[in-house]
Amino acid sequence: MPREWDAKTYDSLPLPHLGWGRRTLSRLPLRGDERVLDAGCGTGRDTESLLDLLPDGRVVAVDGSVRMLDQLRERLAGRLDRVEVVHADLTRPLPFDGEVDAVFSVAAFHWIEDHAALFSALAARMRPGARLVTECGGRGNIAAVNAAVADVLGGAPDMWDFAGEQDTRQRLAAAGFTDVEVALRPDPARFEPGEQFEAFLATVILGAHLDAMPDADREPFVSAVAGRLAEPVADYVRLEISATRA
Ligand SMILES: C[S@@+](CC[C@H](N)C(=O)[O-])C[C@H]1O[C@@H](n2cnc3c(N)ncnc32)[C@H](O)[C@@H]1O
Repeated sequence: MPREWDAKTYDSLPLPHLGWGRRTLSRLPLRGDERVLDAGCGTGRDTESLLDLLPDGRVVAVDGSVRMLDQLRERLAGRLDRVEVVHADLTRPLPFDGEVDAVFSVAAFHWIEDHAALFSALAARMRPGARLVTECGGRGNIAAVNAAVADVLGGAPDMWDFAGEQDTRQRLAAAGFTDVEVALRPDPARFEPGEQFEAFLATVILGAHLDAMPDADREPFVSAVAGRLAEPVADYVRLEISATRA
């Protein structure tokens, strides 16, 4: 299964994900009675917005982190009759019944190395004609943060392999998608210097690095990375995808 997340801290941060969620939702045409998969739903911020847009529909909320899903259940208490909460790895056959009318996802796919397996798993659960509307980190994402990490770790290899436009188009076509639109959008996010920026780095960007470190090394590592950056800015580049299940 994918790594665990600090869901409480995640929800307490001023996340650029809010804007990405709104922007991605605005690209997803809905009647209001569909069944929509929120892939990598996290703590359910966009699952909640999806429910508002689906008065006669349902959301299948899939995530690989138990703590993120616990936070989602708390957030959506009272509305869970229209949410199927599924703890699963998005690269494996998805363990829920039937098909969905659309797939939505924000800031999740760059955590997944095998996009061919991801797109196949999603396609297998989408009815023909269903739309896939997503965004995630794309080629060039957080290059400055990664350079700072490499500097602090003494030139260690980059753990990320952010997807680009051409490779994504090819993988989507191979998984059975048509009407494919893919675009990269630079979208830097600025934070308050100090504690806020370091909490954001630790919880959102550097989590996988920190998982592999002894507790005592974590805070100094995050401070050292923040200290190497000229500004408290995460230099995001977003990969936006729209496609139709053939
Ligand atoms: C940065 S969070 C984004 C959460 C939410 N979509 C948002 O915008 O706030 C990334 C989410 O993707 C989930 N994730 C990463 N890899 C996954 C995988 N292979 N299968 C299922 N979920 C995964 C993580 O558990 C995490 O909740």
